Amino acid sequence: MTKTLTEMATEVLTCGDGRAKTELSRKHAKTWFDARKAGEVIPVGTANPPLQPARPEKPELLDPRDVPRRRPGSLQGRIALLHAVAHIELNAVDLHWDIIARFGHVPFPIGFYDDWVKSADEESKHFNLICDCLERLGSHYGAMPAHAGMWRAAEDTAEDIMGRLAVVPMVLEARGLDVTPGMIEIFRKAKDDDAVAALEVIYGEEVGHVAFGSKWFHFLCGRENLDPKDVFHELVRKYFHGALKPPFNEEKRAEAGIPPDFYWPLTETGAVAD
Ligand SMILES: [Fe+2]
Ligand SMILES: [Fe+2]
Repeated sequence: MTKTLTEMATEVLTCGDGRAKTELSRKHAKTWFDARKAGEVIPVGTANPPLQPARPEKPELLDPRDVPRRRPGSLQGRIALLHAVAHIELNAVDLHWDIIARFGHVPFPIGFYDDWVKSADEESKHFNLICDCLERLGSHYGAMPAHAGMWRAAEDTAEDIMGRLAVVPMVLEARGLDVTPGMIEIFRKAKDDDAVAALEVIYGEEVGHVAFGSKWFHFLCGRENLDPKDVFHELVRKYFHGALKPPFNEEKRAEAGIPPDFYWPLTETGAVAD
Protein backbone atom coordinates (compact mmCIF):
# COMPACT_ATOMS: atom_id res chain seq x y z
CA MET A 1 0.00 0.00 0.00
CA THR A 2 1.29 3.47 -0.78
CA LYS A 3 2.25 5.67 2.11
CA THR A 4 0.31 8.80 2.95
CA LEU A 5 2.01 12.14 2.36
CA THR A 6 2.47 12.79 6.08
CA GLU A 7 4.04 9.33 6.44
CA MET A 8 6.47 10.14 3.64
CA ALA A 9 7.26 13.47 5.34
CA THR A 10 7.95 11.72 8.65
CA GLU A 11 10.26 9.27 6.90
CA VAL A 12 12.37 12.18 5.64
CA LEU A 13 12.38 13.80 9.08
CA THR A 14 13.60 10.63 10.77
CA CYS A 15 16.44 10.02 8.27
CA GLY A 16 19.70 11.38 9.71
CA ASP A 17 22.28 11.42 6.91
CA GLY A 18 22.17 14.53 4.71
CA ARG A 19 22.62 12.90 1.31
CA ALA A 20 20.26 10.02 2.24
CA LYS A 21 17.67 12.48 3.59
CA THR A 22 17.70 14.56 0.41
CA GLU A 23 17.54 11.46 -1.79
CA LEU A 24 14.49 10.22 0.08
CA SER A 25 12.99 13.71 -0.05
CA ARG A 26 13.39 13.90 -3.83
CA LYS A 27 12.00 10.38 -4.25
CA HIS A 28 8.88 11.18 -2.25
CA ALA A 29 8.41 14.48 -4.09
CA LYS A 30 8.53 12.59 -7.38
CA THR A 31 5.97 10.05 -6.12
CA TRP A 32 3.65 12.90 -5.09
CA PHE A 33 3.94 14.79 -8.39
CA ASP A 34 3.78 11.64 -10.55
CA ALA A 35 0.45 10.88 -8.90
CA ARG A 36 -0.74 14.47 -9.39
CA LYS A 37 0.17 14.34 -13.09
CA ALA A 38 -1.82 11.12 -13.39
CA GLY A 39 -4.80 12.95 -11.91
CA GLU A 40 -4.54 11.20 -8.56
CA VAL A 41 -3.94 12.52 -5.08
CA ILE A 42 -2.01 10.56 -2.49
CA PRO A 43 -3.95 10.85 0.79
CA VAL A 44 -2.40 13.39 3.18
CA GLY A 45 -3.26 11.47 6.36
CA THR A 46 -1.95 12.46 9.75
CA ALA A 47 1.37 11.55 11.36
CA ASN A 48 3.40 11.91 14.51
CA PRO A 49 6.58 13.63 13.36
CA PRO A 50 9.46 13.87 15.85
CA LEU A 51 9.76 17.24 17.61
CA GLN A 52 13.30 17.44 16.25
CA PRO A 53 14.39 15.86 12.96
CA ALA A 54 17.17 13.28 12.82
CA ARG A 55 20.53 14.79 11.89
CA PRO A 56 23.96 13.39 11.04
CA GLU A 57 26.53 12.95 13.83
CA LYS A 58 28.59 15.71 12.23
CA PRO A 59 28.52 18.72 12.09
CA GLU A 60 28.80 19.42 15.75
CA LEU A 61 26.11 21.97 16.65
CA LEU A 62 27.30 24.99 18.62
CA ASP A 63 25.78 28.15 19.97
CA PRO A 64 26.08 30.72 17.13
CA ARG A 65 28.46 32.80 19.30
CA ASP A 66 30.88 29.86 19.47
CA VAL A 67 31.00 29.14 15.74
CA PRO A 68 34.40 30.45 14.58
CA ARG A 69 34.26 33.34 12.10
CA ARG A 70 36.56 33.43 9.11
CA ARG A 71 37.39 36.14 6.62
CA PRO A 72 35.02 35.72 3.65
CA GLY A 73 37.81 36.74 1.27
CA SER A 74 39.93 33.67 2.03
CA LEU A 75 39.36 30.15 0.71
CA GLN A 76 38.72 28.96 4.26
CA GLY A 77 36.21 31.76 4.64
CA ARG A 78 34.37 30.75 1.49
CA ILE A 79 34.31 27.11 2.61
CA ALA A 80 32.86 28.21 5.95
CA LEU A 81 30.22 30.26 4.14
CA LEU A 82 29.20 27.33 1.92
CA HIS A 83 29.14 25.09 4.98
CA ALA A 84 26.75 27.46 6.69
CA VAL A 85 24.54 27.51 3.58
CA ALA A 86 24.52 23.69 3.41
CA HIS A 87 23.41 23.63 7.03
CA ILE A 88 20.57 26.07 6.29
CA GLU A 89 19.46 24.04 3.26
CA LEU A 90 19.36 20.78 5.19
CA ASN A 91 17.35 22.49 7.88
CA ALA A 92 15.03 23.85 5.20
CA VAL A 93 14.40 20.34 3.81
CA ASP A 94 13.18 19.32 7.25
CA LEU A 95 11.19 22.53 7.75
CA HIS A 96 9.15 22.01 4.59
CA TRP A 97 8.41 18.35 5.33
CA ASP A 98 7.65 19.28 8.92
CA ILE A 99 4.92 21.76 7.95
CA ILE A 100 3.31 18.95 5.94
CA ALA A 101 3.69 16.31 8.66
CA ARG A 102 2.81 18.44 11.66
CA PHE A 103 -0.32 20.19 10.42
CA GLY A 104 -2.05 17.30 8.65
CA HIS A 105 -5.10 17.98 10.81
CA VAL A 106 -5.56 21.52 9.43
CA PRO A 107 -7.69 21.42 6.28
CA PHE A 108 -6.06 22.94 3.20
CA PRO A 109 -6.64 22.85 -0.54
CA ILE A 110 -4.35 20.36 -2.24
CA GLY A 111 -2.20 23.19 -3.60
CA PHE A 112 -0.83 23.75 -0.10
CA TYR A 113 0.83 20.33 -0.26
CA ASP A 114 1.99 20.84 -3.85
CA ASP A 115 3.77 24.01 -2.77
CA TRP A 116 5.61 22.53 0.21
CA VAL A 117 6.51 19.28 -1.50
CA LYS A 118 7.97 21.35 -4.35
CA SER A 119 9.87 23.52 -1.84
CA ALA A 120 11.24 20.48 0.01
CA ASP A 121 12.37 19.01 -3.29
CA GLU A 122 14.15 22.24 -4.20
CA GLU A 123 15.84 22.50 -0.79
CA SER A 124 17.11 18.95 -1.29
CA LYS A 125 18.61 19.99 -4.61
CA HIS A 126 20.13 23.10 -2.95
CA PHE A 127 21.76 21.01 -0.23
CA ASN A 128 23.29 18.68 -2.80
CA LEU A 129 24.49 21.53 -5.02
CA ILE A 130 26.26 23.21 -2.10
CA CYS A 131 27.71 19.91 -0.84
CA ASP A 132 29.11 19.34 -4.34
CA CYS A 133 30.76 22.79 -4.18
CA LEU A 134 32.22 22.01 -0.74
CA GLU A 135 33.57 18.70 -1.96
CA ARG A 136 35.17 20.31 -5.01
CA LEU A 137 36.99 22.62 -2.58
CA GLY A 138 38.25 19.61 -0.61
CA SER A 139 35.78 19.92 2.26
CA HIS A 140 32.39 18.41 3.04
CA TYR A 141 29.25 19.01 5.09
CA GLY A 142 30.16 18.05 8.64
CA ALA A 143 33.79 19.19 8.37
CA MET A 144 33.22 22.14 10.72
CA PRO A 145 30.76 23.10 13.45
CA ALA A 146 27.39 24.58 12.56
CA HIS A 147 24.78 26.71 14.30
CA ALA A 148 22.60 25.01 16.86
CA GLY A 149 19.17 26.41 17.45
CA MET A 150 18.06 26.59 13.86
CA TRP A 151 15.19 24.30 14.68
CA ARG A 152 13.99 26.60 17.43
CA ALA A 153 11.48 28.42 15.22
CA ALA A 154 9.96 25.07 14.28
CA GLU A 155 9.63 23.96 17.89
CA ASP A 156 8.20 27.29 19.01
CA THR A 157 5.53 27.15 16.31
CA ALA A 158 4.82 23.40 16.46
CA GLU A 159 1.23 24.10 17.40
CA ASP A 160 0.62 27.28 15.51
CA ILE A 161 0.39 27.01 11.73
CA MET A 162 0.03 30.76 11.25
CA GLY A 163 3.04 31.40 13.48
CA ARG A 164 4.98 28.83 11.47
CA LEU A 165 4.16 30.51 8.16
CA ALA A 166 4.92 33.97 9.55
CA VAL A 167 8.30 33.06 11.02
CA VAL A 168 9.73 30.40 8.72
CA PRO A 169 9.03 31.38 5.11
CA MET A 170 8.06 35.03 5.67
CA VAL A 171 10.90 35.99 8.05
CA LEU A 172 13.70 33.42 7.87
CA GLU A 173 13.50 32.51 4.19
CA ALA A 174 12.83 36.15 3.27
CA ARG A 175 16.08 37.02 5.06
CA GLY A 176 17.80 34.66 2.62
CA LEU A 177 16.62 36.90 -0.23
CA ASP A 178 18.30 39.87 1.50
CA VAL A 179 21.71 38.26 1.95
CA THR A 180 22.14 35.97 -1.07
CA PRO A 181 23.14 38.65 -3.64
CA GLY A 182 26.09 39.67 -1.41
CA MET A 183 27.14 36.06 -1.12
CA ILE A 184 27.00 35.58 -4.88
CA GLU A 185 29.32 38.59 -5.23
CA ILE A 186 31.89 37.01 -2.90
CA PHE A 187 32.07 33.88 -5.05
CA ARG A 188 32.01 35.85 -8.29
CA LYS A 189 35.07 37.80 -7.12
CA ALA A 190 36.78 34.54 -6.22
CA LYS A 191 35.91 33.18 -9.70
CA ASP A 192 34.18 30.16 -8.20
CA ASP A 193 31.70 29.67 -11.05
CA ASP A 194 30.18 26.51 -9.57
CA ALA A 195 29.30 28.25 -6.32
CA VAL A 196 27.92 31.26 -8.22
CA ALA A 197 25.73 28.95 -10.32
CA ALA A 198 24.50 27.03 -7.25
CA LEU A 199 23.70 30.21 -5.33
CA GLU A 200 21.86 31.65 -8.33
CA VAL A 201 19.63 28.56 -8.47
CA ILE A 202 18.96 28.97 -4.75
CA TYR A 203 18.26 32.70 -5.09
CA GLY A 204 15.77 32.13 -7.90
CA GLU A 205 13.87 29.33 -6.17
CA GLU A 206 13.77 30.85 -2.69
CA VAL A 207 11.52 33.66 -3.95
CA GLY A 208 8.95 30.93 -4.56
CA HIS A 209 9.20 29.56 -1.02
CA VAL A 210 8.64 32.99 0.50
CA ALA A 211 5.72 33.51 -1.89
CA PHE A 212 4.15 30.20 -0.83
CA GLY A 213 4.45 31.31 2.78
CA SER A 214 2.77 34.64 2.07
CA LYS A 215 0.08 32.99 -0.03
CA TRP A 216 -0.99 30.47 2.62
CA PHE A 217 -0.62 32.96 5.45
CA HIS A 218 -3.04 35.28 3.64
CA PHE A 219 -5.31 32.35 2.89
CA LEU A 220 -5.59 31.45 6.58
CA CYS A 221 -6.13 35.08 7.60
CA GLY A 222 -8.87 35.35 5.00
CA ARG A 223 -10.53 32.19 6.21
CA GLU A 224 -10.62 33.62 9.75
CA ASN A 225 -11.46 37.15 8.58
CA LEU A 226 -8.29 38.57 10.18
CA ASP A 227 -6.12 41.49 9.09
CA PRO A 228 -2.95 39.82 7.73
CA LYS A 229 -0.57 42.66 8.57
CA ASP A 230 -1.66 42.94 12.21
CA VAL A 231 -1.58 39.17 12.71
CA PHE A 232 1.85 38.98 11.07
CA HIS A 233 3.27 41.60 13.44
CA GLU A 234 1.74 39.91 16.44
CA LEU A 235 3.05 36.45 15.54
CA VAL A 236 6.57 37.56 14.60
CA ARG A 237 6.84 39.46 17.89
CA LYS A 238 5.66 36.37 19.73
CA TYR A 239 7.86 33.76 18.06
CA PHE A 240 10.84 35.54 16.53
CA HIS A 241 13.46 36.69 18.98
CA GLY A 242 14.93 40.04 17.99
CA ALA A 243 14.31 42.77 15.43
CA LEU A 244 14.39 42.30 11.66
CA LYS A 245 17.57 43.66 10.10
CA PRO A 246 17.69 45.99 7.12
CA PRO A 247 18.81 46.37 4.39
CA PHE A 248 15.93 44.44 2.87
CA ASN A 249 15.69 43.14 -0.66
CA GLU A 250 12.51 45.09 -1.29
CA GLU A 251 12.22 44.04 -4.90
CA LYS A 252 12.34 40.29 -4.24
CA ARG A 253 10.21 40.64 -1.12
CA ALA A 254 7.60 42.42 -3.22
CA GLU A 255 7.81 39.67 -5.82
CA ALA A 256 7.19 37.15 -3.04
CA GLY A 257 4.11 39.02 -1.81
CA ILE A 258 5.57 40.68 1.29
CA PRO A 259 4.95 44.45 1.29
CA PRO A 260 7.15 46.93 3.22
CA ASP A 261 4.57 47.60 5.94
CA PHE A 262 4.89 43.93 6.95
CA TYR A 263 8.60 44.06 7.81
CA TRP A 264 9.66 47.67 8.45
CA PRO A 265 7.64 48.03 11.68
CA LEU A 266 9.53 44.98 13.03
CA THR A 267 12.97 46.59 12.70
CA GLU A 268 14.74 48.17 15.65
CA THR A 269 13.47 51.65 14.91
CA GLY A 270 10.14 50.48 13.55
CA ALA A 271 10.29 53.16 10.89
CA VAL A 272 9.96 52.71 7.15
CA ALA A 273 13.12 53.94 5.39
CA ASP A 274 12.84 56.73 2.81
FE1 LIG B 1 17.06 26.60 -0.21
FE1 LIG C 1 13.65 27.77 0.89
